Amino acid sequence: MKIFIDTANVDHIREMADIGILSGVTTNPTLIAKEGRDFLEVIKEITEIVDGPISGEVISLEAEGMVKEGIEISKIHPNMVVKIPLTSEGLKATKELSKLGIKTNVTLVFSANQALLAATAGATYVSPFVGRLEDTLHDGIEVVADIRRIFDQYNFKTEIISASIRTPKQMADSALVGAHIATVPYEVLRKAITHPLTDKGIKAFMDDWNAVFNKK
Ligand code: G3P
Repeated sequence: MKIFIDTANVDHIREMADIGILSGVTTNPTLIAKEGRDFLEVIKEITEIVDGPISGEVISLEAEGMVKEGIEISKIHPNMVVKIPLTSEGLKATKELSKLGIKTNVTLVFSANQALLAATAGATYVSPFVGRLEDTLHDGIEVVADIRRIFDQYNFKTEIISASIRTPKQMADSALVGAHIATVPYEVLRKAITHPLTDKGIKAFMDDWNAVFNKK
């Protein structure tokens, strides 16, 4: 499973890219607004940091506007992916953009049927929202597993991006059920890297070493 970061914060993106674990970036209007910076400026900066798919979301609600915005987003950089919400208009726009050879990430997916419809419309990626499903006591990971089974059964090339990840466990569970990608917030990636037993182990190794070789 590939790891994307779900943020528009360039410092966080740079930190994770430097570690070498990032294959892509996803943003949404909330994440861009949180940075308080111009959309184009932020996206351009991200394309200079990460050489992989970068999702930028449309804000139009009608297919025509989504397609226009999508074409503009795709012109920013060859790695750009147009993020489109799963509505009837969104499906229509996905179909149009896919005919133009423009990559799409259909977002706000909450069921296997929605994912199947997005794949049928030609989506490059679908983003089931695991965390938001689990917030409402639904099994988000089961939805990801169902989508993977359907895509495999019918040979869809659409890739699943496990999104709205809130915990390291949701990240690992996404990998276990076959998500192609998990897009993970910075804080969750930091938690996934660290483990108290790793820290404790390093301290014990250092103490033992210093007791013998660095006696004062
Ligand atoms: O990629 C989707 C993600 O940005 C939504 O996350 O935490 O707002 O549910 P969240």
